[in-house]
Amino acid sequence: MNVLVTGGAGFIGSNFIFHILDQHPNYRVVCLDALTYAGNLSTLESVMDNSKFRFVKGDITDRELIDQLFKEEKFDFVVNFAAESHVDRSIEDPGVFLKTNILGTQVLMDASRTYGIKRFHQVSTDEVYGDLPLDRPDLFFTEETPIHTSSPYSASKASADLLVQAYHRTFKLPVTISRCSNNYGPYHFPEKLIPLMISRALNDESLPVYGKGENVRDWLYVGDHCTAIDLILHKGKEGEVYNIGGHNEKSNLEVVKTILRELGKPESLITYVKDRVGHDMRYAINPTKTRRELGWEPTTLFDDGIKQTIKWYLDNRTWWENIISGDYKDYYKKMYEDRQGDE
Ligand SMILES: NC(=O)c1ccc[n+]([C@@H]2O[C@H](COP(=O)([O-])OP(=O)(O)OC[C@H]3O[C@@H](n4cnc5c(N)ncnc54)[C@H](O)[C@@H]3O)[C@@H](O)[C@H]2O)c1
Repeated sequence: MNVLVTGGAGFIGSNFIFHILDQHPNYRVVCLDALTYAGNLSTLESVMDNSKFRFVKGDITDRELIDQLFKEEKFDFVVNFAAESHVDRSIEDPGVFLKTNILGTQVLMDASRTYGIKRFHQVSTDEVYGDLPLDRPDLFFTEETPIHTSSPYSASKASADLLVQAYHRTFKLPVTISRCSNNYGPYHFPEKLIPLMISRALNDESLPVYGKGENVRDWLYVGDHCTAIDLILHKGKEGEVYNIGGHNEKSNLEVVKTILRELGKPESLITYVKDRVGHDMRYAINPTKTRRELGWEPTTLFDDGIKQTIKWYLDNRTWWENIISGDYKDYYKKMYEDRQGDE
């Protein structure tokens, strides 16, 4: 099988590439990534010389490049992780979110139609369902929950989901969609809550918490997300949506306090800052369908996963320090441009 993984130099996409190369040694993986600020090629260093792996720098909205790549590679599976993914940035500048997240998905699906694929998998998010009130712990998102978005980010992801479903219905494109809750784990860009708090706490810097820190997220270890996508790709039914989540609901404040406790740092580092506009209160996924139909089970409990993640950030300081200093942007120039001639 030849698998195209878009956005594979980002957090979840890179973990998925490691998962596929490890679990399916006969598969070939092509990573297409535009290396925006969120893409870090050094993350993929360990697989760069793997003969089953190819990296291509490119934008999913670039129709000509995508067409050429599909023609050349004859992909079996396309897994679309590429996206602008940070809610705060979507509030500052929605335009690029619409371009990448919606139009980029369309370009990939058009090429999938033209050249034929076995499966187009769209990596979506629980944020398309909007939020739940804090005082109704009995409520969860199912695949039937209506789309009800809050931010330009979630609206762009929901729009892409609708387009994916339309391509299935209209053109019979073999698609699946997964909607996952918040991920954490290795290679998470340090602008997102967990890595931001770990990196700042390690440097004894203040930890900015939005509002009162009451917002609840349903945290899933990234490895469990990857196993779910692998199962959906191989066993999921065409045209279906699958929710992914591990029932690990935590308030932001609980998460931050856990990190401080694990690192032996004082809670006095916490500073409460003005809340995000339109901040969703609670996300909570009901993953019953994915468990029942595909036999998926998350294997990492939050208490273990957060310890592993903190250890990873302690053991891989250079990785995140290079991001904070901006040096990671030089990696492509230093390492990759020299390799272009080898392809
Ligand atoms: N992080 C989460 O908790 C979470 C949860 C559920 C779903 N998701 C979804 O999973 C996917 C991956 O999320 P992530 O956290 O790994 O994101 P990320 O921001 O870490 O990575 C995104 C990657 O996409 C690349 N990219 C951006 N625009 C591109 C373009 N136009 N063409 C090609 N590449 C481009 C970036 O360079 C980066 O490598 C996203 O679609 C996101 O919506 C994320």
